[in-house]
Amino acid sequence: MTEAHELIPSAKRLIKSLRDIGYDFSTAVADLVDNSIEAGATRIDILVEFDGDKSFVRISDNGKGMTVDELKEAMRYGSERAYNKEDLGKFGLGLKTASMSQCQCFYVASRTMEEINFIPAFCWDLAHIEKTNKWEIIEPKEKQILSLLRDPLNEHKGTVVLWQRVDRMLGFKHPYGEPARKKLISMCRELEGYLAMVFHKFLAHETSREPLEIYLNFNKIEPWDPFARNESETKELTHHKVKLIHEGARGKILLQPYILPTKEEFSSPDSFRHASGPKNWNQQQGFYIYRANRMIQSGGWCGIRTRDEHTKLSRIELNFSPVFDNAFKINVAKMSVQLPVQIKEDIEKVIMPAVRLAREHYDGKKKLSSKPSVQSKCTTQAPETDKKESGSNPDKSESSKSFGTSYGIEPPKFLFEEMEEKAIEVATETEKPIIKQVFQRLRKSLFGERL
Ligand SMILES: Nc1ncnc2c1ncn2[C@@H]1O[C@H](COP(=O)(O)OP(=O)(O)O)[C@@H](O)[C@H]1O
Ligand SMILES: [Mg+2]
Repeated sequence: MTEAHELIPSAKRLIKSLRDIGYDFSTAVADLVDNSIEAGATRIDILVEFDGDKSFVRISDNGKGMTVDELKEAMRYGSERAYNKEDLGKFGLGLKTASMSQCQCFYVASRTMEEINFIPAFCWDLAHIEKTNKWEIIEPKEKQILSLLRDPLNEHKGTVVLWQRVDRMLGFKHPYGEPARKKLISMCRELEGYLAMVFHKFLAHETSREPLEIYLNFNKIEPWDPFARNESETKELTHHKVKLIHEGARGKILLQPYILPTKEEFSSPDSFRHASGPKNWNQQQGFYIYRANRMIQSGGWCGIRTRDEHTKLSRIELNFSPVFDNAFKINVAKMSVQLPVQIKEDIEKVIMPAVRLAREHYDGKKKLSSKPSVQSKCTTQAPETDKKESGSNPDKSESSKSFGTSYGIEPPKFLFEEMEEKAIEVATETEKPIIKQVFQRLRKSLFGERL
């Protein structure tokens, strides 16, 4: 018989390394919000208090709460439980790794309906682990901490997470200084935008669960809709379902393309700026990928195409169920996914007409709004693909590589990429690689090495 040797990982080494699993402040808070949503919370309160090295973050909810045994299990790295099909949790790590990515010490207290008079609380403390090198949680005794933990639960069931010694948020050199305070303020601003975006479907009551409200420092977070669906000129194109079979799981992936209005079509310059999103128009084009209605990725084309000024009005919603987590290769911090290879081509086929329409729409409006000018046979301008915009006038960062002639009647004008796309579309399989090569040469000779 083979002999087995149990090797328990070094607590202080592993817990410390897991701090760098890939979270930042916003994604760490979002992972705790996931937990609260999953616990059925209808209200989540986030309090970020600046007080030098006593600064703290507290996230409390009115979800179903946990009994003392459930709470202990929840505190375990790699906690065990059965997951439902639409659950937001997955690895049994988020609560611990997200919290520890931002602080050296975090507490969790919880109260259920059944145990009204008892609010258990536990804490993971890096200093304690450093000392003991054991996977040990401790029960907090300090009065001030206990009241911070229990006060939000005086009136109702729910869970409270408290981050203390937030070294990663402030940097501990001058935690009382003005730069530290300013940094925290800007992190809060970023957090507000992030939560407004990631949970917009929950905040706008677009899911089948009960409505959700999130407050950040007592201010209600309003949802940010990446598709600007309240704008009358937003175009909702036909949706598509793509079949996916992966490791025994079967289902359909929903794709819903939108074409957003041009700057001139927006109801106001402010709405246009607001719809731009955290990374601005150019970067925000592409896929909006949701897992059980929670956004994982905002913008970007997942390797299917490159960002282009002309296609920046196209945004495509893609929703998948957690049964396809492996197919989408979701990571622990829920910050990245990959399109499953077996449906990448199908997805490409579905989105290309939408992207083309978006481009035609943008170019059409652009042409109408620009002054008539003499057309040369072939006009080129410096490519500005992926250029960051100021948000105030995106049309200034126009890139154009278009073909046209001035023979009196204007022939149809194609963009270079569009020509290539159309040629590939009508080509046979053997012709396709040749056409690609020819276009590559043409691109080089017309636009130079930089392309
Ligand atoms: N706010 C909360 N309310 C109720 N239960 C929670 C809450 N946060 C965490 N839990 C419990 O703790 C477990 C571990 O959470 P976590 O470490 O985030 O892993 P995961 O969410 O992947 O299961 C959850 O599965 C859930 O049972
Ligand atoms: Mg979780």
